[in-house]
Amino acid sequence: MTLKLGQVTALEEVYFVLPQDARRLLLGGERVSLNLDLRKTNRTWEIERRGEKFIFPDGTAVELEIIKRIAEDADSLYFVSSGGVYKAAIAGESGFYKLVPTIPPTIEINGIRMHRTKEVNPLQDTRNKVNTVNPKEGETVLDTCMGLGYTAIEASKRGAYVITIEKDPNVIELARINPWSRGLFTGGKIQVIQGDAFEVVKKFKDESFDVVIHDPPRFSLAGHLYSEEFYRELFRVLRPGGRLFHYVGNPGKKYRKKDLQKGVMERLRRVGFVGVRRVEEALGVVAKKPEKG
Ligand SMILES: C[S@@+](CC[C@H](N)C(=O)[O-])C[C@H]1O[C@@H](n2cnc3c(N)ncnc32)[C@H](O)[C@@H]1O
Repeated sequence: MTLKLGQVTALEEVYFVLPQDARRLLLGGERVSLNLDLRKTNRTWEIERRGEKFIFPDGTAVELEIIKRIAEDADSLYFVSSGGVYKAAIAGESGFYKLVPTIPPTIEINGIRMHRTKEVNPLQDTRNKVNTVNPKEGETVLDTCMGLGYTAIEASKRGAYVITIEKDPNVIELARINPWSRGLFTGGKIQVIQGDAFEVVKKFKDESFDVVIHDPPRFSLAGHLYSEEFYRELFRVLRPGGRLFHYVGNPGKKYRKKDLQKGVMERLRRVGFVGVRRVEEALGVVAKKPEKG
């Protein structure tokens, strides 16, 4: 029941079953109405029970035993698609990736969650980040690290055109099946580039963006995305007066946190950013490129 890369492509034919919904199916009668898109919409779909099988909207018949397994696995997400049931997970060369049933979902890579899920949910986490730079109608945003695309989608909802970069094909694959990431792939205001932000950014012309959202993995996993060299590139591609948000996080021990933030802020100032300050609720740092003249 492990999702294979590229196995599911048609977004409409994916029906997610949360553990609590599986429990409802087990308790319910002959027909149960459930939301099957992870609460992205208010829509419901009807599932029919025929003896030991549950019939999903596309005709897929799912065994009672599988529904019981989903009901008992509170830490994973499962979906029904084209005749099969899959765990939304990938055993890749670089580790184990899975969608976690928070609403909206986050990704866990080798046990590390991509979004905050404790004090805030991933959606509030995203809004806190995007609010710091307040993208506006008609602006152009560079979102350096796409992940599930929540920051990119939030910026585009505010009227901005967004270019977002993701290095890891397994993350892109999980984003493709996540209803909350759909805005990335429906065309229009977001362009997804698969590649290493460190290299891709070098290709953009000077002063191409009004806003940069930089939400990298933790420092221990991607130190080059916290380097002065990379920050110089972010500065170069911003227009004068352009805004940067840089998620830094809260990496464990106090003394380490202090050093990391301090170092980030010092390096941002060294490459020319002004107004460099910490934004507590977003666990990050904002900065500006000075106006011309
Ligand atoms: C913290 S997550 C970003 C979350 C994202 N802002 C969202 O709203 O879902 C960081 C992402 O950066 C990706 N990544 C890591 N190194 C990268 C690189 N060099 N270039 C682009 N993306 C990278 C990771 O695979 C991961 O998906």
